[in-house]
Amino acid sequence: MTFILTTPLYYVNDKPHLGSTYTTIACDALARFKRLEGQQVIFITGVDEHGQKIQRTAKLHKRSPQDHCNVISKYYQELWLQWGVTNDRFIRTTQTKHKGVVEQFFRRVEDRGDIYMGHQKGWYCVGCEEYKDTEPNDKTPNCTIHQRELEWRDEENLFFRLSKYQQDIENLVKRDGFIEPSSRKNEVINFVKGGLKDFSISRVNVSWGIPVPGYPGHTFYVWFDALLGYLTALLDDGLDNDLNRLNSIGWPSATHIIGKDILRFHAVYWPAMLISAGLNVPNGLYGHGFLTREGQKMGKSLGNILDPKELLESYGSERIRWYLLRDIQFGQDGDFQQKRFIELVNNDLSNTIGNMLNRSVSMSRKWFQNCTPLLVENSIPDDYLSEMCIKTISTVRDKLDTMKFNEACESILNLARNANIYLNDKSPWKMIKDVNQLNDVSIVIYNVLETSRIIGILLKPILPELSGKILKQLIYNDDFADWQEHLKWGRLEQNVHLQEPIPIIPKL
Ligand code: MSP
Repeated sequence: MTFILTTPLYYVNDKPHLGSTYTTIACDALARFKRLEGQQVIFITGVDEHGQKIQRTAKLHKRSPQDHCNVISKYYQELWLQWGVTNDRFIRTTQTKHKGVVEQFFRRVEDRGDIYMGHQKGWYCVGCEEYKDTEPNDKTPNCTIHQRELEWRDEENLFFRLSKYQQDIENLVKRDGFIEPSSRKNEVINFVKGGLKDFSISRVNVSWGIPVPGYPGHTFYVWFDALLGYLTALLDDGLDNDLNRLNSIGWPSATHIIGKDILRFHAVYWPAMLISAGLNVPNGLYGHGFLTREGQKMGKSLGNILDPKELLESYGSERIRWYLLRDIQFGQDGDFQQKRFIELVNNDLSNTIGNMLNRSVSMSRKWFQNCTPLLVENSIPDDYLSEMCIKTISTVRDKLDTMKFNEACESILNLARNANIYLNDKSPWKMIKDVNQLNDVSIVIYNVLETSRIIGILLKPILPELSGKILKQLIYNDDFADWQEHLKWGRLEQNVHLQEPIPIIPKL
């Protein structure tokens, strides 16, 4: 079955920061894992280019909205390439194909009787592109997220009959597995219980948007347009954009990975829109937490934004991937701390994993004529590490499947720690002094090398580059799509020439 995975479509008001990179990296790890598990994956990311926020930012930069979108979208595309992100599609909501999808979808919803003209009054945050529940007589309301004044709106808008789908949505949000992690579920259930209100899906004062067919002067509300980007991306397979094709190309087997800030749009508005249009709701949503920096929210006003491009240049993708996936419980908020980052990547990657490989390769070369050991037939087996590998493989697969990235990383790391302890306990450098123990030494070294190989393979979805380096040192071809066979114990070739080891990841 096809597995469709999406990141949010990021606003192009600014260049990406570490927050958007975090979501994208997590999705990338999951997409790589699913492919290794033999699934056909469609990994979608992209950008959300319409609306007042973008219109205003473009003006600030003295660019036309389209020029501005072109600049920032290109930046996103290049950045993901530099980070080695393996997205299959990149959707821009200014693509011509998307306009057709939005129009078709609107017609379906309108034919269902779910659109009507109404009057929208209220406080609006352009940063959130959202009406707030603030009291109308509040004199100076502020957006708590953007720390700036809300704007009063009083205008004619088209409305979507969300209230009609109260029961459907109530049932859906309670459904097992629809909202993950389950800790985020209650907040949505309570919101829905409070009663769903119809929401406006058009604007009359925003020219930078897709025109609503049949309603001159109205453009689509940016969220109505953006959510449909997921469908456009899926239909962007070289064929036409007919919504009737969706079921045959994998929909609704989709998981949307989003930040907790946009859960409501995805868990409530989006499924109701889909039901209204006669389409299936996606399989599930995962709302992850927010990244802070040294305990403070990252923001331009605080001047503490972490620029993913600079981070990549200073540290390389693998260290950052490791830190984000290994140290933060996906779903919870996480804090980026420079000191901890350096300690962690040095200890885990350079010391624990790097040294395990380095010393086992060095010893093998030294005692076995620059080769991997040749095991003597019928030697007494020592299953300690092989059994631990089997358990670790099963844990890692399970944890990755449920997006417990930190636990998967911890499990791999634990295997490496144990391989190092095993090596110390066995002390082959002492055994080798006795010629009668040469066979035992070959077993010990083979076991650690083979464990290193398995660690290299298990790291493939998490740290693809580092995994490649480990496997290269072990003369193991890592050019494979499905990892099942390669995770079997004993695939490391015996008596093959090993190159002199070089540290796979130098200490910072
Ligand atoms: N354009 C909408 C999404 C439309 S989806 C159809 C939007 N865009 S956004 O640029 O504001 O990006 C939101 C997403 O970026 C968040 O949901 C989250 O995934 C990610 N993050 C933005 N800041 C973040 C942090 N500080 N930490 C972690 N992720 C954050 O909302």
